[in-house]
Amino acid sequence: MSDFQNAHKKLLQWFEEHGRHDLPWRNTDDIYHIYLSEVMLQQTQVSRVMEEYYPKFLERFPTLSALADASLEEVLSLWSGLGYYSRAKNLHECAKICKDSLPEDFKALQKLPGIGRYTASAICSFGYNQPVPVVDTNIKRVIRRLFGLESTNDKVVWERAEAFLNTQYPKEHNLALMDLGSMVCTPKAPECEKCPLETFCQGKERAESLTTPKKKKEYIAMELFFGINIQDGKVAMTPSNNGMYEGMLVFPQVDPIDEDFIGIYKHSYTKYRLTVKLYRSDIVPEDVVWVDLAGFLDGHYPSLVKKAAKYML
Ligand code: ADE
Repeated sequence: MSDFQNAHKKLLQWFEEHGRHDLPWRNTDDIYHIYLSEVMLQQTQVSRVMEEYYPKFLERFPTLSALADASLEEVLSLWSGLGYYSRAKNLHECAKICKDSLPEDFKALQKLPGIGRYTASAICSFGYNQPVPVVDTNIKRVIRRLFGLESTNDKVVWERAEAFLNTQYPKEHNLALMDLGSMVCTPKAPECEKCPLETFCQGKERAESLTTPKKKKEYIAMELFFGINIQDGKVAMTPSNNGMYEGMLVFPQVDPIDEDFIGIYKHSYTKYRLTVKLYRSDIVPEDVVWVDLAGFLDGHYPSLVKKAAKYML
């Protein structure tokens, strides 16, 4: 048996015993469900996706065509709280383009909005069981260590992942690498003694140097001034035309007037550190949506907006 075959066998044995087999998107062959999970998991912890967003979204949009038939407003409302709303918009766009099924071809998938190499490979591997490598940040670290790759270049790592692929069991192989990276071959203090690939690993002595340092995040501080216009138990809201929240209901923006000041709060969103100031206002935007205050907290609004509740209710 060659070294690779030996390593493949050990990896799959480890996966069978220790892998995360309970994840719902690993127990379905519905390509749309798998695609949805990958989009959600790009930004949110597994537990939140599994317990909150994934089941809720699929209950309302069980098929790609149900998603295609929905309005963008409704899709965004079910996405609210997850952030990165452009992902929901791309998902909806894809559904409208593909209608009832996603392409099986790796290249064709990458022509769809929001689907890059990672998502296309995850769909091909986890959905269609095609012999393609998958490289996310966890797998990248495992591959770099296993082959002692000093290079952080994605192309180099993808090529190694492809050379190491188990073409007989590509899906299980990729999932195993993913779990190994998140459970054993961790960025700091990897537990090499628990690793099924330890004897093959060319990087274990310098494991911590073979990890991709987190990018130093740069934050952008911004102030937002929201006008709060309440009439007959309803508050005036308007669809945002700002890139970050486009399409979601927010309060109209106003010029700040000290006498009308109501309250202030902070909100972090991707790289933005927002300071939100609320002002009493009688502005009624052209495309106003009057939202009932009684149901405000139960409604689907971005956290940016929900945080205003304590000053309004
Ligand atoms: N299983 C399949 N894809 C996954 C992902 N992106 N994160 C965690 N588990 C997964």
